[in-house]
Amino acid sequence: MQKILNVALAKRSYPITIGENLLSEFQHFKLQAGQRVLIATNETIAPLYLQTLIDMLEKHGIKTDSVVVPDGEQYKTMETWNTILTALLAHNHTRSSILIALGGGVIGDVAGFAASAYQRGIKFIQVPTTLLSQVDSSVGGKTAINHPLGKNMIGAFYQPQSVVIDLHCLKTLPQRELSAGLAEVIKYGIILDPEFFNWLEQHIEDLLNLDVNALSYCIYHCCELKAKVVAADETEQDMRAILNLGHTYGHAIEAELGYGNWLHGEAVSVGMLMAAQTAKLLGKLTQADIERIKNLLIRAKLPVNRPTTMPIESYLPHMLRDKKVLSGQLRLVVPTKIGHAEVMDGIDKDVVFQSIQLT
Ligand SMILES: NC(=O)c1ccc[n+]([C@@H]2O[C@H](COP(=O)([O-])OP(=O)(O)OC[C@H]3O[C@@H](n4cnc5c(N)ncnc54)[C@H](O)[C@@H]3O)[C@@H](O)[C@H]2O)c1
Ligand SMILES: [Zn+2]
Repeated sequence: MQKILNVALAKRSYPITIGENLLSEFQHFKLQAGQRVLIATNETIAPLYLQTLIDMLEKHGIKTDSVVVPDGEQYKTMETWNTILTALLAHNHTRSSILIALGGGVIGDVAGFAASAYQRGIKFIQVPTTLLSQVDSSVGGKTAINHPLGKNMIGAFYQPQSVVIDLHCLKTLPQRELSAGLAEVIKYGIILDPEFFNWLEQHIEDLLNLDVNALSYCIYHCCELKAKVVAADETEQDMRAILNLGHTYGHAIEAELGYGNWLHGEAVSVGMLMAAQTAKLLGKLTQADIERIKNLLIRAKLPVNRPTTMPIESYLPHMLRDKKVLSGQLRLVVPTKIGHAEVMDGIDKDVVFQSIQLT
């Protein structure tokens, strides 16, 4: 069973195909015999899926090269970006070549940014292999690398020509990474869709057990929700900002404790609860809704308490440095009920302290 979602962006519209064993199916890549491809992936994913993809493409008359970069957020750098560009040049790839990103969000971001820059832009296909990248980075066209002075600070908006989500790939994903992806899934329910939140309350264990029907419904629905937000607001103003629920608090945790110690989704889980406490302190959310959110996160095997090693005072400097902050004013996304969120400006620092303390 396959599901296809069209991300409607006028001339830059593209399909997201979700199904099992799609790495072995040519049609969804939207390629033609005779075209040339470079696959960018990492050391962890290459032994699992690279050969399957190469064999399938070669069988259909696509000349395929690959470049394998080190695994990890710490390699989402200018250097890795350059490694991919060098591979394109070394194999004499032209403006009509296509770059395929095979991997999680790190590979998708750095390869997408390389595609946007190589000869001023070549076609790009995403094959996201983590739940997080499937429900988040497949939609929206954001690509980026990190700079020593800031995460995701250099990049471009660049849409893929196709996104191919092979559910089979999730079988090798470590459970902690799967749960981290579920944090973003739960986020969509909280900010946009009360019925989806209900559905998650009924199906969270099915998702953890990689039930194919549940996964395929869930991923499709998340991409659809994000696509709606993005289509309404392609270059990120107010509407798109609600997708950052939990991310300002979460980034403080990631930055303070070092990227990689807490996974992004884990930090977002705790960050969403902090944002929920903020909403409650401002009289905008009930305790009952906080409990529902917390219970679902617990069942998804996500952390719900702040890291004990991180002093409360160390959050604010990171939060004020967040790129979503406007001119020194603290701006946060807060849930106002399950299925709805608002962007709030000028939040009092004491409220922030208390929100952290309560989590
Ligand atoms: N562009 C966007 O809109 C967007 C959205 C969200 C996140 N991101 C970015 O995505 C990154 C996080 O993405 P992520 O959570 O996918 O992390 P990731 O790419 O680091 O992948 C997590 C880990 O899982 C491994 N892995 C990936 N797929 C696997 C599989 N099928 N089987 C076994 N192991 C596998 C990876 O090698 C890595 O070790 C961050 O850099 C973040 O900034 C971008
Ligand atoms: Zn996120």
